[in-house]
Amino acid sequence: MNETLQTIARRRSVRRFKDEQIGEAELRAILEAGLQAPSGHNDQSCFLLAVQDKAVLKAISEGSKAAMRMSPVDWVAGAGANEKFHIFYDAPTAVIVAARRDAVSPLADACAAIQNMLLAAESLSLGSCWIGFVRYHFQDSDAYAKLGIPEGYEVQYGVALGCQPDGPAGKPPARKPERCYRIIK
Ligand SMILES: Cc1cc2nc3c(=O)[nH]c(=O)nc-3n(C[C@H](O)[C@H](O)[C@H](O)COP(=O)(O)O)c2cc1C
Repeated sequence: MNETLQTIARRRSVRRFKDEQIGEAELRAILEAGLQAPSGHNDQSCFLLAVQDKAVLKAISEGSKAAMRMSPVDWVAGAGANEKFHIFYDAPTAVIVAARRDAVSPLADACAAIQNMLLAAESLSLGSCWIGFVRYHFQDSDAYAKLGIPEGYEVQYGVALGCQPDGPAGKPPARKPERCYRIIK
């Protein structure tokens, strides 16, 4: 397997992080990787907001959790009610991924950018996790202005980023033993 395929196979969600911040050059490389992703109609619709201010990360987490507590879905409401739960797992950096509402495919554009960032993080030996819970905070339109997210953009997801703690990482989910693809020739 070449290096790219090994990076893809090795990547797993990381939910524990060291306190130390990631390097600025690494962060920029990850954001650039996000912006290199394909986009529908070549709209290049994504806006990436990297947040490293602990208080802001906490405010986004708490805002998301408040909305999650109203969810009719039990496990979501339960996570929102868990005082110890931080939606970014106390990662020192999170990237909020927004995409232009008027783009042809904003959600797909955001997802493509996110996967590029997760793989870039893995290639730099950094831990990362795709964070869907962040969407709850951005149901509130005030949250956009507070964070300076440009007009016309909608937050789709977030990405937690940080250095992985030393020692064993725990058991990451393996892939299903049956191969979920077919080849028709
Ligand atoms: C759309 C989407 C939303 C996700 N949201 C969260 C989340 O809010 N919190 C979390 O811990 N993991 C989240 N994940 C990560 C998945 O739980 C994870 O990818 C899955 O369990 C497979 O594990 P792996 O990434 O280690 O292969 C999300 C993944 C996707 C694709």
